Amino acid sequence: MPTNTAAWLLARQAPLEVKPAPYTHPREGEIVVKNHAVAINPVDWGIQLLGTLLFSWMKYPFILGGDLAGEVVEVGEGVTRFSVGDRVLGMAMGMDKTRSRSAESAFQAYTVLLAHMAVPIPSTLSYEDAAVLPLALYTAAYGLFQKDHLALQYPSAAPQSTGKTLLIWGGSTSVGSNAIQLAVAAGYEVITTSSPRNFPYVRRLGASQVFDYQEKTVVADIIEALKGKTIAGALAIGTGSADACSAIVHACNGDKFVSLVSLGALPPNPGLNVQTLLLIFQFVAANVSFQVTSRMRRIRTKFISGMMDREVSKVIYEDFLPRALAEGHYAAAPEPVVVGSGLDHIQAGLDAQRQGVSAKKVVVSL
Ligand SMILES: NC(=O)c1ccc[n+]([C@@H]2O[C@H](COP(=O)([O-])OP(=O)(O)OC[C@H]3O[C@@H](n4cnc5c(N)ncnc54)[C@H](OP(=O)(O)O)[C@@H]3O)[C@@H](O)[C@H]2O)c1
Repeated sequence: MPTNTAAWLLARQAPLEVKPAPYTHPREGEIVVKNHAVAINPVDWGIQLLGTLLFSWMKYPFILGGDLAGEVVEVGEGVTRFSVGDRVLGMAMGMDKTRSRSAESAFQAYTVLLAHMAVPIPSTLSYEDAAVLPLALYTAAYGLFQKDHLALQYPSAAPQSTGKTLLIWGGSTSVGSNAIQLAVAAGYEVITTSSPRNFPYVRRLGASQVFDYQEKTVVADIIEALKGKTIAGALAIGTGSADACSAIVHACNGDKFVSLVSLGALPPNPGLNVQTLLLIFQFVAANVSFQVTSRMRRIRTKFISGMMDREVSKVIYEDFLPRALAEGHYAAAPEPVVVGSGLDHIQAGLDAQRQGVSAKKVVVSL
């Protein structure tokens, strides 16, 4: 049996510690992957900072991590899409409330993956390139295609135009980079926001128009750009995105739905001090005000959380993405920035992600 090692989180705010971990065999419908690259998401350092205040179900010691790419070393009963030796990328579900199992998290040598959330990696992509996708792709697909979110038409290799326009606020984020590509492949025109330095980047991914989210007139400018168009709703990513999207969708013709990726900024220091209490108060007040305003505007909103429907995961992970990646129609975006090699570099990766990135994904090679 292989020897496993993990970057353990032993307590809230403790730095990750590399120590032995149990090796877990796959159950029915699962595979085990030897990880060659992992990527960092805001939720990883968010849990390290806030612990059970953020994920109440989590028990220490715990292993974090949602993004991985590696090689299949064991295949569970009933799995027919993968064999030992295949190169795959996958969404590690260990942090999800319904799984809550360290064996299924990414920051270790061997991870148990749900086979239906894994995708073969084409030979054109390195493990580091592939690792940028899983969690951001999952989140984007959840918001765009789940029936209780935007419920858009599914993506395909030959998209039929729907004649509708989708607003994606925060197009240069990891989630936004995936959302733009998925929405375009599903036949929607995409209008998005980013900093001006990332305008060419989001256009390359398929956005037809892009606006600077820091401009004072951005909401009015997007409403003007949407005149005469039918909106398919909005995907709200980033601080302040929810209210802006709600105002725009309210002013436009079309679907009155905003799928919420972000609720607000995390406090920089979760200790009980005046600054944190003020931030928590502002966060709660902003959300209450947002809910009240959206209700008055008759805008439906929902926060992205939980396990994706099997119908959507089959479309994304089995039907659409393997072919789109292999044929070069889907980019592994944003570009990886490799901050080191080995589990002991994951803490540096968390710190780098927390400092802030711009159209980049922090990756650690293993
Ligand atoms: N609900 C969920 O399940 C879920 C899942 C994943 C992520 N999230 C949340 O979604 C957000 C994005 O995550 P991510 O990993 O995609 O982020 P990321 O890649 O780390 O985001 C970095 C980007 O954020 C952009 N940005 C900063 N402030 C912004 C604002 N106010 N409005 C729009 N864009 C802004 C920056 O754009 P420029 O450089 O162009 O300025 C930068 O490129 C985070 O809040 C994260 O916690 C939620």
